[in-house]
Amino acid sequence: MITIGRRPPPAHDVIAALLECHERIRRFLAMAEVLGARADLSGDQVHDAARDLERYFSAAFLRHAEDEDLRLFPVLRARGANLEPLLLTLGQHHQTLDLQVGSLLERWRRLITEPGALPELQPSLVQLGAPFAKLLLEHLVLEEAELFPVARSTLRPEDHQAIKAAMDRARGLAAR
Ligand SMILES: [Fe+2]
Ligand SMILES: [Fe+2]
Repeated sequence: MITIGRRPPPAHDVIAALLECHERIRRFLAMAEVLGARADLSGDQVHDAARDLERYFSAAFLRHAEDEDLRLFPVLRARGANLEPLLLTLGQHHQTLDLQVGSLLERWRRLITEPGALPELQPSLVQLGAPFAKLLLEHLVLEEAELFPVARSTLRPEDHQAIKAAMDRARGLAAR
């Protein structure tokens, strides 16, 4: 791809890191859909999928929303980016998604210890998972279409560095 007149991304590219998270979110949503739909999974497959889903959506998924709410949005506001009411909407999505994922986590936790309960739980996995996946996928598309392009043109190299360092600290990684 030829890009003209664009600066190369900084070494600590915050938007690239957030986009990587979006791809992970999409992969885990697909896994959640499989768990809600398939009737031919072995007990081990159910256990492993429930364990991976619980692990991801109880930790890394929440860190991602925090990266945006606490580490990216304040810098964009401070830099005067013209992003209201988008930031408000995205923050509200994060709160709604946080509430919705709680009920799914409860069911995945049960499946870790009791994979045989899958047929019983599948209707509620679908009922709870469908609106969660719908809002989350719309949310990712909205961020990619309207937030990230403006963030890319707004953030200065030192912002990328500071936000990325804060993201690493939140994950217990030493700042590089
Ligand atoms: Fe978000
Ligand atoms: Fe995001």
